[in-house]
Amino acid sequence: MTERSGQKLRFGVIGCGAIGPTHAGAIAQIKDAELVAVADVNADRAREMAEKFGVGKVYSSDQDLLSDGEIDAVCLCTPSGMHADGAVAALLAGKHVIVEKPMEISLEACDRMIAAEDSTGKKLAIISQHRFDAATLLVKEAIDSGKLGSLVLADATVKWWRTQEYYDSGDWRGTWAMDGGGALMNQGVHTVDLLQWLAGGVSSLFAYTRTAAHERIEVEDIAVAALRFENGAVGTLTATTAAYEGFPVRIDLYGTEGTAVLEGDRLKTLKFKTGEEFHGEAAAAHALSVASGGTASVKNQAAVRLETNTAVADPGAVWGDAHRAQIEDFIAAIRTGGKPLIDGRAGKRPLEIILGAYRSSRTGQPVTIR
Ligand SMILES: NC(=O)c1ccc[n+]([C@@H]2O[C@H](COP(=O)([O-])OP(=O)(O)OC[C@H]3O[C@@H](n4cnc5c(N)ncnc54)[C@H](O)[C@@H]3O)[C@@H](O)[C@H]2O)c1
Repeated sequence: MTERSGQKLRFGVIGCGAIGPTHAGAIAQIKDAELVAVADVNADRAREMAEKFGVGKVYSSDQDLLSDGEIDAVCLCTPSGMHADGAVAALLAGKHVIVEKPMEISLEACDRMIAAEDSTGKKLAIISQHRFDAATLLVKEAIDSGKLGSLVLADATVKWWRTQEYYDSGDWRGTWAMDGGGALMNQGVHTVDLLQWLAGGVSSLFAYTRTAAHERIEVEDIAVAALRFENGAVGTLTATTAAYEGFPVRIDLYGTEGTAVLEGDRLKTLKFKTGEEFHGEAAAAHALSVASGGTASVKNQAAVRLETNTAVADPGAVWGDAHRAQIEDFIAAIRTGGKPLIDGRAGKRPLEIILGAYRSSRTGQPVTIR
C-alpha cells in the first residue's frame, strides 16, 4: 500500500471551467476520495466551484495548489496546450495526476509527461472516460476473447455541432497553440482512442481536413481519414463540429465472426454468426446486465449508467458518466502500485493518429503511424 493507507486520497482540481465540475462531482461520489482544494486563475470560477462542492481551500494559481502538502492527487482540467507544463509540475511536486483529454497537443509534450511519470514514480492517467462505458467494455471483451473473430473493417463517425458562440467563448478554443486542433483533436479524440483501443492500433492513414462552417477559428471543423489497422483491417474516421445539429458518435466493428456497433454510450448491435444477437434497447440492457453482474473484467471496471448522448450539440454537457469509473481506476493504481488503464504511453496513442492525420492533410501524402 502507498499514500496514507487507511485514509481517503486527497484531491485538488486545477481548472474550474466546463469540465472541472465533472471531476469534482465524480470525486464526491467516491468513498475513498475527498476533494480538498480547487484552483483557477479566474477567481470567480474557483470560488463558485468550491462553494458548490463544499471545498475549503481555493487557490488562484496551480503553483499554490501544488505546494499544498495535504494534496495527494490532482485533476488537471486546464486548456489542452497547458497539460504538459501542469502535469510535469504536479508530478515533480510529488502528486499523482489525472489529466483531461487530449493528453497534450504535440508528441514532444506527451514525451515530457511520460518522462516525468517514469522519473517520479507517481501515477499519470489520461482521461478517456468512454473506455469505461459498459457497452465499450462488452465489445472489448468480445474482441479480446475472439468471439468477434478477426476484425476486417472499422468505421467511426463523430458528427457533432458546435456553434460559433462556442468557439468564441474562450480565447484558447479553435487555436493551434492551445486547442491543438479542432473536430479531431478536441471533440474526436475520445472516439479515436476507442477505435484504436478496440481495433488494435492504426498503422497508416490518409486524411483530408477542412474549415468550412465556422469563422475566426484556425483549426479544422471537418476531418475525414482512411485507415489501415495493425492487424490488416481497414476503416474510416469522420469527425466534425459542422453537422447541424449533432448526432451520436458511432463506431462500427465488423469481424469474421460477427458485428458490434456502439452508438453514443450504448451498445446498438452485437451480433455473432452463432446466432446470438442483441439490438437497440435489448443490446443496451445486455451491456448493463453484464456490467453489473457478469464477467469479471467488465464488471470490475464498468460505469453502469448508460445515458443518451447529450454532448452532440451542447459543449457543456459531458457525454456519459464514466469519469467516476476512470478516477476509481486511477485510485486503484495508486493504492496497489499498479498501472492505470490509460497511463502516459496509452494516452499518447490517439495523439499519434490525430497528428498523423493533420500531417497527411497538410502534405497530401499517406502517413505511417506505427
Ligand atoms: N472528457 C471530456 O468529456 C471533456 C469535456 C470538455 C473538456 N475537456 C477537456 O478539458 C480541458 C479543459 O476544457 P474546458 O472546456 O473545461 O475549458 P474551460 O476554458 O471551460 O476551462 C479551463 C479553465 O482552466 C483555467 N486555467 C487556465 N490556466 C490555468 C492555470 N494556470 N491554473 C489554474 N487554472 C487555469 C481557466 O481559467 C478556465 O477556467 C481541455 O483539455 C478539454 O479538451 C474534456
